[in-house]
Amino acid sequence: MNINSILDDGYKDLINSSSKTSKLDAELLLSSVIKKNVKEIIFDRSIKATKNQLKSFRALITRRKLGEPIAYILKKKEFWKNIFYVDKNVLIPRPDTEILIEEAIKLLNKKQTKFVLDIGTGSGCIIISLAKERPNIVGTAIDISKSAIKVAKINAKMHHLKNRIKFYNSSVDNFFKGKYDLIISNPPYISNLKIRYLVKDILGFEPLVSLKGGPDGSAILNRVIKKSSNLIKTGGKLVLEIGYDQRYMVTKLLKKEGFYINRLVKDYANNDRCVVATKL
Ligand SMILES: C[S@@+](CC[C@H](N)C(=O)[O-])C[C@H]1O[C@@H](n2cnc3c(N)ncnc32)[C@H](O)[C@@H]1O
Repeated sequence: MNINSILDDGYKDLINSSSKTSKLDAELLLSSVIKKNVKEIIFDRSIKATKNQLKSFRALITRRKLGEPIAYILKKKEFWKNIFYVDKNVLIPRPDTEILIEEAIKLLNKKQTKFVLDIGTGSGCIIISLAKERPNIVGTAIDISKSAIKVAKINAKMHHLKNRIKFYNSSVDNFFKGKYDLIISNPPYISNLKIRYLVKDILGFEPLVSLKGGPDGSAILNRVIKKSSNLIKTGGKLVLEIGYDQRYMVTKLLKKEGFYINRLVKDYANNDRCVVATKL
């Protein structure tokens, strides 16, 4: 069958779903089924699909219609300069988190060995991106979720970094190993109240443990800052992702724990998103 009509049907099917990118979604799903890249599909509409491929495509369209994110259906997501394996056990890496990478690489020069800890590593996207940018860092990453650590290890292997990053299945509270030059974290920071209002694609599919930050969103941030204060070397840097309305709460806590605030960085929507601080 010619892909023209198949694509059109898939696209129309998605128009009334929660997808805001129905055309692209249909193209991505078809490209994964017929194993051609999206460009080929867009420019060569003479490509044919078999009956089985059509069946598989329709099944994927149904999953997308029900709100399942494209990244989970395709089992991959691009972040920074790399592709990461993702599944329902980890948060899908977000473009806003790339701001943390930008800030961290400014702080890590290419020569000296630096010890870096990623708290709440999820898919491992942060520590792996940093290790690829800076071959001289020694990475450690922790996560309370055992299944997330499995995913992070898959990604470390895929990016040939198994020997440079140590992964631990541990809560931030129970982790006492090492002293670090830089600690980086994108912890769960959404308040319990706001969780209820998240869109279906997030709430129904992404792991709650990666989103829920307690009554006012600060529960895990609090613990990350306190723990970092003990694990970081004097003069070491802390790079944190925060919620758009957490600037005052976080900077107050950082000061209380002996940090100097270097920078607050905004995201692409002009919201406060990242704090960089130095341990005094
Ligand atoms: C917002 S996700 C970030 C995932 C990944 N670093 C990223 O930026 O895409 C937060 C991660 O923190 C982990 N987490 C939640 N509570 C934790 C805790 N108390 N100790 C360690 N990790 C925790 C979750 O399992 C989740 O993987």
